[in-house]
Order: sequence, then C-alpha cells, then structure tokens
Amino acid sequence: MTEAKYIWMDGKFVDWHDAKVHVLSHTLHYGNGAIEGTKAYKTHDGRCAIFKLKEHTKRLLNSSKMTLMDVPFSEDELNKAQVELLQKNELNEGAYIRPLVYLGYGVMGLYHKEAPVNVSISAWEWGAYLGEEGLKKGVRVKITSMTRTPNTSGMGKAKAVANYLNSQMAKYEAVEAGYDEALLRDDQGYIAEASGACFFIVRDGIIITPPNDTSLESITQATVIDLAHDLGYKVERRRITREEIYIADEAFFTGTAVEVTPIREVDARIIGAGERGPITEKLQSGYFDIVQGKNEKYAKHLTYIN
Ligand SMILES: Cc1ncc(COP(=O)(O)O)c(C=O)c1O
Repeated sequence: MTEAKYIWMDGKFVDWHDAKVHVLSHTLHYGNGAIEGTKAYKTHDGRCAIFKLKEHTKRLLNSSKMTLMDVPFSEDELNKAQVELLQKNELNEGAYIRPLVYLGYGVMGLYHKEAPVNVSISAWEWGAYLGEEGLKKGVRVKITSMTRTPNTSGMGKAKAVANYLNSQMAKYEAVEAGYDEALLRDDQGYIAEASGACFFIVRDGIIITPPNDTSLESITQATVIDLAHDLGYKVERRRITREEIYIADEAFFTGTAVEVTPIREVDARIIGAGERGPITEKLQSGYFDIVQGKNEKYAKHLTYIN
C-alpha cells in the first residue's frame, strides 16, 4: 500500500504512522463498524475531483444508523474533511478514500450503547482493484459456496464492517481455487453480488442486474444504469440464476474500486467471446469519461479538490 502523510481522526490530521487505536477498541472484538470506499480521479483538465462524494458520505451515515452508531460529525463536516485530507496529502493524481466509523475504547461486552463512536478517514493512491489487465481483458470468476448474508441475519444494505467477513471468506475461496473474484448467491440461490462489487450480464443487447434485495445499494451500479440509459440500452433489474450467467453474451462487475471490470470466465464457462464485450467496453469508457469530468451531464457529481 502506498502510504500518505496524514490520516484524519476525529477532527484532527494525524501523522500516518501515529494513526493508532487501543487493542480493546470495541470494533476490533465484535465487528460493528461502517466503511466507505470513495474514489478521486485526475480530471481531463489536470485537476482532481472526488466522484459522488455526497452519496458516499450519506451512505456512511446511513450504514452507521442501521448498525446503531451515532456519528458525532455532520455530513458537511465529513465531506469537508475528505477534501482537506486529499489537499493536505497532495493526492492530486487521484486517490482511494476510506472513511471508517468505529466503536472505540472504553466499553466491553456486546451492548454497545455507551461505546464511543470514532471516525477516521484515510486516503492513498490505489491502482485498479482487479488489475489493469483485468480492466482490458476481463477477469475469471467463481460462484462460491458462501451465501451472501441474508437480510434476516445482517444489515445487508449497510456497508458494515461485519459484512466483510462474508466477503472475505468468499474471496479467499475463489482466489485459492485459481480465480480472480467471487460471486455470491442469496439464500434462494439467485446471484446477489461479488465480494466487493455488483454484477451485470448482457443478453441479446439487454443489460441485466439484480435488484439490491441482497446487496449493497451500490453507487457505481446506479451510475452505470444511468449511463446505459443515456446510451440507449434497455436495463432490466431482475434476479439472475447461475446457469443464465453461463450463457450470457457479456458479464461485468461495477464498483468504486473495480470500476467497470469485464468478466471473461465463470466456473470454467467462457463468457461470450472470452474477452471484454462491446457493450461492457462502451460502459467502461463512458464511466471513465464521467469520473474524469468529460461528461457534462455528470459534472455535478464531481467535487474538485484543486
Ligand atoms: C459488497 C459490495 N457490493 C457492492 C459494492 C459496490 O458499491 P459501490 O459501487 O457503491 O462502490 C461494493 C463496494 O463498495 C461492495 O463492497
């Protein structure tokens, strides 16, 4: 990981190496926390902008509300902190931003009402999550044995730290089996999402992605659906079965970290021509245009840091 100079902790900029917590911090033991994953890009005019900052911060606060953590900072304060953090770290070439709401030191036991709620924001340079080659040639995916935590036993719509145990187990299983990424099914066997991304297929020119019944309410998925409509495609939000994926013409992931990553193989079945499909390519390049400030319609979603 590429280190930066400062991390924002509860209102103060702290040296990267001094950004520490007590070993008895509540979140470390019981797993209640909320995160965001937000990205800033160098724009076409040489500046740098955070994409959909407000939406990400709002989701952080929503995730915290769902998981019963009362965040002691307002949405505006958190937005301002993220802009200042990138400025102070001189991350002008773009960055990944990781806000974290966590329960700190002082209370043990599961009843967390009195535990202090702390917030940190870190940012660093982070390249393509599934690799540059994955963005061009597509990645190989395994449908894992892990069921995506159902809403009856978790806070599925929250970007809750606790949900990532489920994701980690799935990802590990897929990578150890020789694949790049994991797909998880919901408790009825329909495709839910990937370990850290949403899932789309293309069949006969129609773009299909599951509803967010058992997945994060994804910000990139919403952007890509808007973009697909702009480009004149029909988008269906409906459940997808495992075998439908195998015969799809194209498949791809969307997410802040994975951006738009093509899928070339699922469970030893080659998807389409086994390369980035033409519709995926259009959406991918359209997405990069948006985040780099080249698409006027989406200019309102960019928060410039310089
Ligand atoms: C489990 C999971 N699903 C979906 C996504 C995609 O969400 P977004 O597009 O808002 O980054 C992510 C990434 O944040 C994720 O971790």
